[in-house]
Amino acid sequence: MDLENLSSKPLDKHIRRLPRVIIIGVKKCGTRALLEYLKLHPLIKAPGPEPRFFDRNYHRGLDWYRSMMPATKEHEITMEKTPRYFVSPDVPERIYNMSLNTKLVIVVRDPVIRALSDFTQAVSKHEVESNMIFRRRVLRRDGDINLHSSIVQTGIYVRYVTNWLKYFGSSNIHIVSGEELITNPLAVLETVQDFIGVEREIDGNLIFFNKTRGFPCIRILKRKRTSKCFGKTKGRNHVQTDSTTLKRLYDFYSPYNQYLFKVINKTFKWNI
Ligand code: A3P
Repeated sequence: MDLENLSSKPLDKHIRRLPRVIIIGVKKCGTRALLEYLKLHPLIKAPGPEPRFFDRNYHRGLDWYRSMMPATKEHEITMEKTPRYFVSPDVPERIYNMSLNTKLVIVVRDPVIRALSDFTQAVSKHEVESNMIFRRRVLRRDGDINLHSSIVQTGIYVRYVTNWLKYFGSSNIHIVSGEELITNPLAVLETVQDFIGVEREIDGNLIFFNKTRGFPCIRILKRKRTSKCFGKTKGRNHVQTDSTTLKRLYDFYSPYNQYLFKVINKTFKWNI
Protein backbone atom coordinates (compact mmCIF):
# COMPACT_ATOMS: atom_id res chain seq x y z
CA MET A 1 0.00 0.00 0.00
CA ASP A 2 1.28 3.46 -0.88
CA LEU A 3 0.95 5.08 2.56
CA GLU A 4 2.46 8.38 1.49
CA ASN A 5 -0.01 8.81 -1.33
CA LEU A 6 -2.89 7.69 0.84
CA SER A 7 -2.19 10.25 3.56
CA SER A 8 -1.85 13.12 1.08
CA LYS A 9 -5.32 12.42 -0.37
CA PRO A 10 -7.99 14.59 1.24
CA LEU A 11 -10.64 12.48 2.94
CA ASP A 12 -14.03 12.66 1.25
CA LYS A 13 -15.92 13.46 4.41
CA HIS A 14 -19.64 13.85 4.95
CA ILE A 15 -19.96 17.54 5.72
CA ARG A 16 -22.60 20.21 5.26
CA ARG A 17 -21.98 22.18 2.09
CA LEU A 18 -23.56 25.22 0.49
CA PRO A 19 -25.91 24.36 -2.37
CA ARG A 20 -24.58 24.19 -5.89
CA VAL A 21 -28.08 24.15 -7.38
CA ILE A 22 -31.14 26.14 -6.31
CA ILE A 23 -34.74 25.88 -7.52
CA ILE A 24 -35.56 29.58 -7.25
CA GLY A 25 -39.23 29.47 -8.28
CA VAL A 26 -41.85 30.05 -9.36
CA LYS A 27 -44.40 29.68 -6.58
CA LYS A 28 -47.25 27.25 -7.49
CA CYS A 29 -45.54 26.05 -10.66
CA GLY A 30 -44.41 22.62 -9.39
CA THR A 31 -41.30 23.44 -7.37
CA ARG A 32 -41.99 20.84 -4.65
CA ALA A 33 -42.64 18.05 -7.13
CA LEU A 34 -39.45 18.88 -9.03
CA LEU A 35 -37.32 18.81 -5.88
CA GLU A 36 -38.84 15.54 -4.63
CA TYR A 37 -38.24 13.89 -8.01
CA LEU A 38 -34.64 15.11 -8.09
CA LYS A 39 -34.04 13.68 -4.62
CA LEU A 40 -34.55 10.24 -6.19
CA HIS A 41 -31.14 10.73 -7.80
CA PRO A 42 -28.46 8.93 -5.76
CA LEU A 43 -26.16 11.97 -5.78
CA ILE A 44 -28.69 14.74 -5.09
CA LYS A 45 -29.33 15.77 -1.49
CA ALA A 46 -31.61 18.55 -0.27
CA PRO A 47 -33.22 19.77 2.95
CA GLY A 48 -36.98 19.18 3.34
CA PRO A 49 -38.10 22.68 4.38
CA GLU A 50 -37.41 25.80 2.36
CA PRO A 51 -34.46 27.59 4.03
CA ARG A 52 -35.56 31.02 2.75
CA PHE A 53 -32.02 32.18 3.37
CA PHE A 54 -31.48 34.77 0.66
CA ASP A 55 -34.80 36.56 1.16
CA ARG A 56 -35.70 36.17 4.83
CA ASN A 57 -32.73 34.82 6.77
CA TYR A 58 -29.82 36.53 5.04
CA HIS A 59 -28.79 38.32 8.24
CA ARG A 60 -28.03 34.90 9.79
CA GLY A 61 -25.00 34.45 7.55
CA LEU A 62 -23.68 31.69 5.32
CA ASP A 63 -22.74 29.43 8.23
CA TRP A 64 -26.39 29.30 9.26
CA TYR A 65 -27.36 28.54 5.67
CA ARG A 66 -24.79 25.75 5.49
CA SER A 67 -26.12 24.32 8.75
CA MET A 68 -29.54 23.94 7.09
CA MET A 69 -28.08 21.61 4.44
CA PRO A 70 -27.72 17.83 4.72
CA ALA A 71 -24.20 16.41 5.08
CA THR A 72 -22.81 15.31 1.74
CA LYS A 73 -19.65 13.99 0.17
CA GLU A 74 -17.65 16.09 -2.27
CA HIS A 75 -19.05 14.39 -5.38
CA GLU A 76 -22.66 14.74 -4.23
CA ILE A 77 -24.83 17.69 -5.15
CA THR A 78 -26.48 19.81 -2.48
CA MET A 79 -29.55 21.68 -3.61
CA GLU A 80 -32.49 23.55 -2.11
CA LYS A 81 -35.68 25.19 -3.27
CA THR A 82 -37.21 28.47 -2.18
CA PRO A 83 -39.74 29.86 -4.69
CA ARG A 84 -39.76 33.25 -3.03
CA TYR A 85 -36.24 33.91 -4.35
CA PHE A 86 -37.52 34.33 -7.89
CA VAL A 87 -39.44 37.53 -7.14
CA SER A 88 -37.13 39.01 -4.49
CA PRO A 89 -35.11 41.85 -6.05
CA ASP A 90 -31.97 41.48 -3.89
CA VAL A 91 -31.62 37.71 -4.17
CA PRO A 92 -29.83 37.37 -7.55
CA GLU A 93 -26.92 39.49 -6.34
CA ARG A 94 -26.79 37.67 -3.00
CA ILE A 95 -26.61 34.25 -4.66
CA TYR A 96 -24.02 35.61 -7.09
CA ASN A 97 -21.95 36.77 -4.11
CA MET A 98 -22.13 33.27 -2.60
CA SER A 99 -21.03 31.69 -5.88
CA LEU A 100 -21.34 32.93 -9.42
CA ASN A 101 -21.30 29.27 -10.51
CA THR A 102 -24.57 28.46 -8.75
CA LYS A 103 -26.96 26.69 -11.08
CA LEU A 104 -30.50 27.98 -11.00
CA VAL A 105 -33.64 26.10 -11.98
CA ILE A 106 -36.92 27.89 -12.63
CA VAL A 107 -40.28 26.15 -13.13
CA VAL A 108 -42.83 28.26 -14.99
CA ARG A 109 -46.46 27.60 -15.80
CA ASP A 110 -49.26 29.37 -17.65
CA PRO A 111 -49.37 32.56 -15.54
CA VAL A 112 -53.18 32.66 -15.50
CA ILE A 113 -53.38 29.14 -14.08
CA ARG A 114 -50.57 30.03 -11.69
CA ALA A 115 -52.61 33.00 -10.47
CA LEU A 116 -55.65 30.76 -9.90
CA SER A 117 -53.48 28.25 -8.05
CA ASP A 118 -51.89 30.95 -5.87
CA PHE A 119 -55.28 32.45 -5.08
CA THR A 120 -56.78 29.04 -4.33
CA GLN A 121 -53.97 28.45 -1.84
CA ALA A 122 -54.48 31.86 -0.24
CA VAL A 123 -58.24 31.43 0.27
CA SER A 124 -58.02 27.79 1.29
CA LYS A 125 -56.86 28.92 4.70
CA HIS A 126 -60.04 30.94 5.13
CA GLU A 127 -62.47 28.45 3.64
CA VAL A 128 -63.81 31.06 1.25
CA GLU A 129 -64.28 29.97 -2.32
CA SER A 130 -65.69 32.70 -4.42
CA ASN A 131 -65.00 33.48 -8.02
CA MET A 132 -66.00 37.06 -7.27
CA ILE A 133 -63.16 37.32 -4.79
CA PHE A 134 -60.66 36.14 -7.40
CA ARG A 135 -62.01 38.69 -9.83
CA ARG A 136 -61.77 41.44 -7.21
CA ARG A 137 -58.19 40.45 -6.44
CA VAL A 138 -56.90 40.54 -9.99
CA LEU A 139 -59.10 43.22 -11.55
CA ARG A 140 -59.78 46.77 -10.43
CA ARG A 141 -63.32 48.10 -10.23
CA ASP A 142 -62.98 49.63 -13.70
CA GLY A 143 -62.07 46.20 -15.10
CA ASP A 144 -58.37 46.93 -15.56
CA ILE A 145 -55.73 44.60 -14.19
CA ASN A 146 -54.81 45.18 -10.56
CA LEU A 147 -51.09 45.67 -10.87
CA HIS A 148 -50.68 45.89 -7.11
CA SER A 149 -51.73 42.29 -6.60
CA SER A 150 -48.79 39.95 -5.98
CA ILE A 151 -50.88 37.17 -7.53
CA VAL A 152 -50.83 39.14 -10.78
CA GLN A 153 -47.23 40.38 -10.49
CA THR A 154 -45.63 36.98 -9.96
CA GLY A 155 -46.81 35.81 -13.39
CA ILE A 156 -44.97 38.62 -15.19
CA TYR A 157 -42.05 36.20 -15.37
CA VAL A 158 -39.95 38.23 -17.78
CA ARG A 159 -39.69 41.11 -15.32
CA TYR A 160 -37.94 38.86 -12.80
CA VAL A 161 -35.98 36.77 -15.29
CA THR A 162 -34.28 39.89 -16.64
CA ASN A 163 -33.14 40.74 -13.12
CA TRP A 164 -31.58 37.27 -12.75
CA LEU A 165 -29.90 37.64 -16.13
CA LYS A 166 -28.02 40.69 -14.86
CA TYR A 167 -26.04 38.36 -12.60
CA PHE A 168 -26.17 34.93 -14.21
CA GLY A 169 -25.60 33.89 -17.79
CA SER A 170 -28.22 31.80 -19.53
CA SER A 171 -25.94 28.76 -19.20
CA ASN A 172 -26.49 28.94 -15.43
CA ILE A 173 -30.27 29.20 -15.65
CA HIS A 174 -32.50 26.31 -16.68
CA ILE A 175 -36.19 26.99 -17.21
CA VAL A 176 -38.66 24.11 -17.24
CA SER A 177 -42.33 23.78 -17.99
CA GLY A 178 -44.60 23.13 -15.03
CA GLU A 179 -47.16 21.64 -17.42
CA GLU A 180 -44.63 19.15 -18.78
CA LEU A 181 -43.55 18.31 -15.26
CA ILE A 182 -47.05 16.88 -14.80
CA THR A 183 -47.54 15.23 -18.20
CA ASN A 184 -44.00 13.99 -18.78
CA PRO A 185 -41.90 14.32 -15.62
CA LEU A 186 -39.17 12.00 -16.87
CA ALA A 187 -38.45 14.14 -19.92
CA VAL A 188 -38.15 17.22 -17.71
CA LEU A 189 -35.91 15.37 -15.27
CA GLU A 190 -33.57 14.32 -18.05
CA THR A 191 -33.01 17.94 -19.02
CA VAL A 192 -32.51 18.97 -15.40
CA GLN A 193 -30.00 16.17 -14.71
CA ASP A 194 -28.07 17.20 -17.83
CA PHE A 195 -28.12 20.82 -16.70
CA ILE A 196 -26.89 19.94 -13.21
CA GLY A 197 -24.18 17.80 -14.75
CA VAL A 198 -25.04 14.42 -13.22
CA GLU A 199 -25.65 11.11 -14.99
CA ARG A 200 -29.31 10.41 -15.77
CA GLU A 201 -29.79 8.06 -12.83
CA ILE A 202 -33.34 8.83 -11.67
CA ASP A 203 -35.19 5.55 -11.97
CA GLY A 204 -38.22 6.24 -14.16
CA ASN A 205 -40.08 3.30 -12.60
CA LEU A 206 -40.28 5.22 -9.35
CA ILE A 207 -42.53 7.88 -10.83
CA PHE A 208 -45.97 6.76 -11.96
CA PHE A 209 -49.22 8.47 -12.86
CA ASN A 210 -51.86 8.07 -10.16
CA LYS A 211 -55.27 8.25 -11.85
CA THR A 212 -57.15 9.00 -8.63
CA ARG A 213 -54.91 11.96 -7.82
CA GLY A 214 -54.61 12.98 -11.45
CA PHE A 215 -50.89 13.57 -10.88
CA PRO A 216 -47.65 11.62 -10.87
CA CYS A 217 -46.69 10.06 -7.50
CA ILE A 218 -43.49 8.46 -6.25
CA ARG A 219 -43.06 4.76 -5.56
CA ILE A 220 -41.31 4.04 -2.28
CA LEU A 221 -39.66 0.65 -2.36
CA LYS A 222 -38.15 0.39 1.11
CA ARG A 223 -41.02 1.46 3.35
CA LYS A 224 -44.37 -0.15 4.16
CA ARG A 225 -46.21 2.57 2.30
CA THR A 226 -45.70 1.79 -1.32
CA SER A 227 -46.13 5.24 -2.77
CA LYS A 228 -46.05 8.90 -1.88
CA CYS A 229 -48.32 11.41 -3.56
CA PHE A 230 -47.96 15.06 -2.77
CA GLY A 231 -50.18 16.45 -0.01
CA LYS A 232 -53.55 18.13 -0.36
CA THR A 233 -51.89 21.48 -0.98
CA LYS A 234 -50.54 20.27 -4.33
CA GLY A 235 -52.90 19.50 -7.18
CA ARG A 236 -55.98 21.21 -5.75
CA ASN A 237 -59.14 22.07 -7.66
CA HIS A 238 -58.87 25.74 -8.41
CA VAL A 239 -61.55 28.28 -7.62
CA GLN A 240 -63.82 28.91 -10.59
CA THR A 241 -63.86 32.27 -12.25
CA ASP A 242 -65.77 33.94 -15.08
CA SER A 243 -64.56 33.92 -18.66
CA THR A 244 -64.24 37.71 -18.82
CA THR A 245 -61.74 37.73 -15.97
CA LEU A 246 -59.79 34.90 -17.58
CA LYS A 247 -59.71 36.65 -20.94
CA ARG A 248 -58.62 39.88 -19.31
CA LEU A 249 -55.74 38.07 -17.64
CA TYR A 250 -54.70 36.21 -20.80
CA ASP A 251 -54.70 39.49 -22.75
CA PHE A 252 -52.66 41.12 -20.04
CA TYR A 253 -50.00 38.41 -19.85
CA SER A 254 -49.73 37.75 -23.57
CA PRO A 255 -47.13 40.46 -24.43
CA TYR A 256 -45.08 39.63 -21.35
CA ASN A 257 -45.12 35.95 -22.32
CA GLN A 258 -43.97 36.79 -25.85
CA TYR A 259 -41.18 38.92 -24.46
CA LEU A 260 -40.17 36.13 -22.08
CA PHE A 261 -40.00 33.60 -24.94
CA LYS A 262 -37.66 35.96 -26.80
CA VAL A 263 -35.44 36.58 -23.80
CA ILE A 264 -35.07 32.90 -22.89
CA ASN A 265 -35.21 31.63 -26.46
CA LYS A 266 -37.81 29.05 -25.52
CA THR A 267 -41.58 28.89 -26.03
CA PHE A 268 -44.31 27.40 -23.86
CA LYS A 269 -47.77 26.43 -25.07
CA TRP A 270 -49.85 28.64 -22.83
CA ASN A 271 -53.37 29.54 -23.76
CA ILE A 272 -52.43 32.68 -25.71
P1 A3P B 1 -52.05 23.13 -8.13
O1 A3P B 1 -52.25 22.78 -6.70
O2 A3P B 1 -52.55 24.45 -8.49
O3 A3P B 1 -52.50 22.08 -9.08
P2 A3P B 1 -45.49 24.34 -5.89
O4 A3P B 1 -44.91 23.06 -5.38
O5 A3P B 1 -44.46 25.18 -6.57
O6 A3P B 1 -46.27 25.06 -4.84
O7 A3P B 1 -46.49 23.97 -7.05
C1 A3P B 1 -47.71 23.33 -6.80
C2 A3P B 1 -48.18 22.77 -8.13
O8 A3P B 1 -47.38 21.66 -8.49
C3 A3P B 1 -49.58 22.20 -8.10
O9 A3P B 1 -50.47 23.27 -8.35
C4 A3P B 1 -49.55 21.16 -9.23
O10 A3P B 1 -50.20 21.61 -10.38
C5 A3P B 1 -48.07 21.02 -9.53
N1 A3P B 1 -47.59 19.64 -9.56
C6 A3P B 1 -46.64 19.18 -10.42
N2 A3P B 1 -46.43 17.89 -10.24
C7 A3P B 1 -47.26 17.50 -9.24
C8 A3P B 1 -47.50 16.24 -8.61
N3 A3P B 1 -46.83 15.16 -8.97
N4 A3P B 1 -48.44 16.19 -7.64
C9 A3P B 1 -49.12 17.31 -7.28
N5 A3P B 1 -48.93 18.52 -7.83
C10 A3P B 1 -48.02 18.62 -8.81
